Amino acid sequence: MSTSSKTKIKELISQSVQDTLHFARQVADELSGGDILLLTGELGTGKTTFVQGLAKAFGIREKIKSPTFTVMHAHKIKPHKCAQKHRREPKWFVHADVYRLKKAEEIYEIGLMDWLGRQDAVVVVEWGEKIKPLLRSYVYKTIRFQYNKRKNERFITPPPKISLPR
Ligand SMILES: Nc1ncnc2c1ncn2[C@@H]1O[C@H](COP(=O)(O)OP(=O)(O)OP(=O)(O)O)[C@@H](O)[C@H]1O
Ligand SMILES: [Mg+2]
Repeated sequence: MSTSSKTKIKELISQSVQDTLHFARQVADELSGGDILLLTGELGTGKTTFVQGLAKAFGIREKIKSPTFTVMHAHKIKPHKCAQKHRREPKWFVHADVYRLKKAEEIYEIGLMDWLGRQDAVVVVEWGEKIKPLLRSYVYKTIRFQYNKRKNERFITPPPKISLPR
């Protein structure tokens, strides 16, 4: 994995699924209950792969699938199973994919709004840019996934506040 800076990451090139999973694990270290992560990027750029890495870091054993048809899934985090320390431990890991929603307001119907801002949950939303207009009163972070020149390369842009020690 190559990065543009030694301490604060502005952008990063993932060269494999493993790189993306590794990056997710490091991002997980920075997350606390109450955090909301929006993942943006074209089909197949690695958003679900990244979520699988996050889930693993939170000790979740259930298989993380692209929730295209279920739209949202809340995974219970077993106490003390979190790999992370020094943070507000969440009890829930909520994964949503809003790609198929016809309008942003449908997130009320699927129950996603009930999870946002809960201090006991980390919420990750694929295609999160679609619901931004409804998130004005929330603090969230965005991670952008893009294809790069080579087949297995992905360009990942984390928010400025997420920094990775090297
Ligand atoms: N560097 C990489 N990082 C992540 N995935 C990669 C990488 N290189 C190749 N891949 C492949 O790209 C695909 C990424 O699929 P994934 O479901 O994670 O994408 P997605 O962004 O969630 O797509 P969708 O918008 O359909 O939900 C997988 O088939 C994976 O094997
Ligand atoms: Mg996906």
